[in-house]
Order: sequence, then C-alpha cells, then structure tokens
Amino acid sequence: MALSDLIIKGEKSIAVVGLGYVGLPLAVAFAGKGLKVIGFDISPRKIETLKNGKDPTDEVGDEALKNTSVLFTNDEKELKNASFFIVTVPTPINFDHTPDLTPVISASEIIGRNLTPGSVIVYESTVYPGCTEDTCVPVLEKGSGLSCGTDFKVGYSPERINPGDKVHRLPTIKKIVSGMDRESLEDIKAVYDFIIEAGTFPVSNIRTAEAIKVAENSQRDVNIAFMNELAMVFDRMGIDSGEVIEGMNTKWNALGFRPGLVGGHCIGVDPYYFTYQAERLGVHSTIVLGGRAVNDGMGRFVADAAVKKMKEAGLDPETVKTVILGLTFKENCRDIRNTRVVDIYNRLLEQGIKADICDPGAVKEDVQREYGIELRDIEDIKDCGCIIVAVAHKEYKEMGIEGISKLYARDGKPKVFIDVKGIVPKDVLESSGLVWWRL
Ligand SMILES: NC(=O)c1ccc[n+]([C@@H]2O[C@H](COP(=O)([O-])OP(=O)(O)OC[C@H]3O[C@@H](n4cnc5c(N)ncnc54)[C@H](O)[C@@H]3O)[C@@H](O)[C@H]2O)c1
Repeated sequence: MALSDLIIKGEKSIAVVGLGYVGLPLAVAFAGKGLKVIGFDISPRKIETLKNGKDPTDEVGDEALKNTSVLFTNDEKELKNASFFIVTVPTPINFDHTPDLTPVISASEIIGRNLTPGSVIVYESTVYPGCTEDTCVPVLEKGSGLSCGTDFKVGYSPERINPGDKVHRLPTIKKIVSGMDRESLEDIKAVYDFIIEAGTFPVSNIRTAEAIKVAENSQRDVNIAFMNELAMVFDRMGIDSGEVIEGMNTKWNALGFRPGLVGGHCIGVDPYYFTYQAERLGVHSTIVLGGRAVNDGMGRFVADAAVKKMKEAGLDPETVKTVILGLTFKENCRDIRNTRVVDIYNRLLEQGIKADICDPGAVKEDVQREYGIELRDIEDIKDCGCIIVAVAHKEYKEMGIEGISKLYARDGKPKVFIDVKGIVPKDVLESSGLVWWRL
C-alpha cells in the first residue's frame, strides 16, 4: 500500500518540524482532517506555549489549538514514530546576504537521527534551487545511515501562506508539489490534496519547485522596487505618486503594485537566495539585486521626507514630538522580524529625532529584545507634531484621520502627517489642514 494511503488511514504519522507561521497551520490542518500528526519544534518555550493552547502566530487561533489532536513535542525521539516529514524551519540570511542554512541543516540532522526506512521528507522552507538535493539529502543520509532513493525519498513543496490574510489561507491556496521520482510525487501530492481545497500543482522535479518560490517572491520584490523608484522620482518632481498609480491602474494591463517598505522574512529575504545561487553559477543578478537595494533604502527615504515636511512647515524637527504608528513588517500581523520600519526610526534618530513607536499587535518584550526599542501604548501618545503611519493596521484605518488627529498637540502650530501606506484618501488629506506627505 502507498505511504499516502497509510497516512490517510491513520496507520502512519506525519511530523511537522518547525511550528511557526508555516508549520503550525499545517500541523493543525492535517490533524483537523483526522490524520496522526506530531508537531516538533526545538524551542521548549514554543512547545509549552502551544501545549497551553496559545497561538503566538494568530494563524490558527487559541480555540483551534486547544482542540487539536497534534502531539506537540520537543523530544526528537517522537519523530521515530513518523513516516512523512514536513520541514518548516526558518531560512534567514546572514549579515552579508548569503543564505543561513543552519536551521534547515539542523532540522535535517534531527530527522536523520530518527529516520526509519520507507519515509518521505518534504521541505517547505524557502531555499534556492538545488538546496534540498545537494545540501539536505547528504545530511539526512549521514544522520540516518540510509540511502536516499532506496531507503527514503524527498520532495519540495513551497509554502505560499500570507500571515494575517483571512482570504488566502492554507486550504485555499494552490500548492506546488514535487518529488524526487514519480512514486514520491504521488505520495506527496495525495497527502497535500487531503487538506488543500484549491488543489495541488505538481511540477516535474524538486529544483523547479524550489525555483518557483524564489521566482514568485523576487518578482514581487522587483515590482515593488519599480514602484518605489517611481515614487522617489515623482516626489522630486512634485507629483503625487498615489494619484499616478491610481491613473496607471485604470489600464487593463496594469500590474497593481504599490510603493512601500519591503520587510519580513520572505519578500525581503528570498531574492537573496536566488541571487546567491545565481552568483555561484557565474550570473550577476542586476535586476533582483537592484530591486533589493532600492527597497532597502525606502525607510531612509520616508524619514527624510518627514524631516523635509517638518522643515517646510517651519518646525524644528529635533523638538517636534514624532510618533510612528505601526512597527510590524506588514499590516494586521504581529511579526516584527526584518521590519523596515526600524529604518525610519533609525534614520530619524541619526538626525536627532527620537520618535515614539506604537503597534497594536507587536509584543513589547520581543521589540525590546530584537531592536532595543521600547514600544509605547497608543493611549499614552499625545501632543504630537508629526505622525508617521508606517503600517496600515486595521486599527489605524478605523481611527481614520479624525481619530489620528486627536494625537496632535493643540498648540496652534502646523502639524505633519506622513501616510506611508496611503490609508487616508487624498481629498480627505487636502481638507484636513495638515501638512501631509504620502509615498
Ligand atoms: N511566514 C510566512 O509568511 C512564510 C510564507 C511562505 C514561506 N515561508 C517560509 O517558511 C519557512 C518557515 O517560516 P516561518 O515564518 O514559519 O518561521 P517561524 O520562525 O515562524 O517558525 C519556525 C519554527 O521553526 C523552529 N525551528 C528552528 N530550527 C529548528 C530545528 N532545527 N528543528 C525544529 N524546529 C526548528 C523555530 O523554533 C520556530 O518555531 C521559512 O523558510 C520561510 O521563508 C514563510
């Protein structure tokens, strides 16, 4: 009987290795369909939190977590009971923008030590084409003493979830699947088909599946970089890029991208996995690296625009009370990793402006630990002269310009409003009496 049939019948178990934004929803989804699931993470703190029914990602919710049958553990020996492994550990970059494969290698070592013949290992972590077969497989073989292709098989299935997005969710996003041969592909496809309502899209080999992931995120990064470049130039020309984009979007083939900060651990990171491997093969990436450079400079650009507006309004930026609303790397999510809002903060700091930062979802302790910044409660914010809305959280949209304006000082001086994400319509800004700027 095929491995997938045994998994679906509950006679064999799935192990999800790495229980973050990607791994946790997967584990809970498989368990929700009645499959036997082991959820493994090296972090004892993470396992404790999950066992207590607390979902730190907000992706599955505390209620679903309390009711799930997933066996949460940080005891790697439990992995001996699994036959189908899904690897969902982080793939960050080093300081020099090269891939940091430490977690993927460490997860492969752990699986290798506990691997039994007949198993399938699917990598979901974002990697460059070739990484699964060239880097992970030798680690699995060394740890297990088994041979890939005869004793166990591997596959790759990139993850496309979009944290905070309640429309594009795990079951509703078509999933790319690949395997090292026909048999492994069939098993992998059947297992994912069990939870993915949108269906799976099999591709012919693992490298192609790995390439799809870095290509789709690089595509997004480059397109946003193009909009950012337009926005910087139109700003010099005194043209409101928001209105240019609205106009552009009336054409049938407009792509619909907007300028903005590009942070997080996917769009701002994955292109470097592509360029790393491209460079190793002797191809210098001009477009993708160019896009990265543009996007990495946007925090500075926004901060400089804010300072310019304060000066134009006749204010002394160093004495103007400035607040940044939003710190997470994107709206309606708690994730602060690689947020580029800190670039705004740091650039202001360089110019003698110590801004306060608020965020409705970010965890204060995490912000302190990661960035050394003390997050403020919005209830304590008052008497501002400059407000920068950096992240379009629903809370700020709901406040609208009326609610946000309550944070300004009532001292008769001009007030500056920087709308990075364009959450306030232009006509509202124009009649607001504020000195405003938007990206
Ligand atoms: N978050 C997203 O939106 C998203 C979307 C698509 C793809 N991805 C990719 O998926 C992968 C996972 O991302 P994430 O956001 O879920 O990461 P995350 O940081 O939220 O979670 C990763 C988990 O893996 C655990 N871990 C680290 N090393 C481990 C090891 N050796 N063994 C077991 N557990 C280990 C960590 O403790 C953590 O709980 C990355 O490659 C990422 O690029 C993420």
